[in-house]
Amino acid sequence: MGRKFFVGGNWKCNGTTEEVKKIVSVLNEGQVPSSDVVEVVVSPPFVFLGLVKSSLRPGFHVAAQNCWVKKGGAFTGEISAEMLVNLEIPWVILGHSERRLILNELNEFVGDKVAYALSQGLKVIACVGETLEQREAGSTMEVVAAQTKAIADRVSSWSNIVLAYEPVWAIGTGKVATPAQAQEVHFELRKWLLANTSPEIAAATRIIYGGSVNGANCKELAAQPDVDGFLVGGASLKPEFIDIIKSAE
Ligand code: G3H
Repeated sequence: MGRKFFVGGNWKCNGTTEEVKKIVSVLNEGQVPSSDVVEVVVSPPFVFLGLVKSSLRPGFHVAAQNCWVKKGGAFTGEISAEMLVNLEIPWVILGHSERRLILNELNEFVGDKVAYALSQGLKVIACVGETLEQREAGSTMEVVAAQTKAIADRVSSWSNIVLAYEPVWAIGTGKVATPAQAQEVHFELRKWLLANTSPEIAAATRIIYGGSVNGANCKELAAQPDVDGFLVGGASLKPEFIDIIKSAE
């Protein structure tokens, strides 16, 4: 079976109640391909998860932007995987580069988070990606392989993981990876999965691209054989997110 196109919208730390309602109404009114063709998951800040979940059209789902690495308890300011499950939030984004780089989340910590979230029944959008410095040093594959290995070492099933390749230099910069650059890394990541997990996992795991995706560049990126969708930041707050969903067709 082919890999279903996946479009995630990461709203990051943005929005007021009024703005969130407006984004949801644009999503709800948008003409998009059926859920047989594309899976759509939007990720508002924690405080808006309930509002978005209760007002979002059927067929679109929500994701949290993070969760704690183990069972909840005395961890001030954290949100546990159990809480997300309790609130029927099906997805969580883990290992986003903004958390890796600003909050010093290391590969092993991200791997532990992914394993714990999966163990509680969540589905995970797991992010990997190199910095500009690492790309210029020629270590892109080494970096993303190490990030992926920290996950692979801790999980046995990949059926509830979507792997998001997000080159840090392309995030929020307007400097999108070329379709060839994205395809090259996605192809190498799939090859890595083949060599280090199983042929089934390599064939079935969706590898999505994130980094300055917009309504104008999504079609060409989506046409790449190993690009199975997108994780969209800035443009997911705008009506053009509908055009990005449409690139699944
Ligand atoms: O999670 C989304 C990525 O960080 C991409 O963000 O589309 O604003 O570049 P961006």
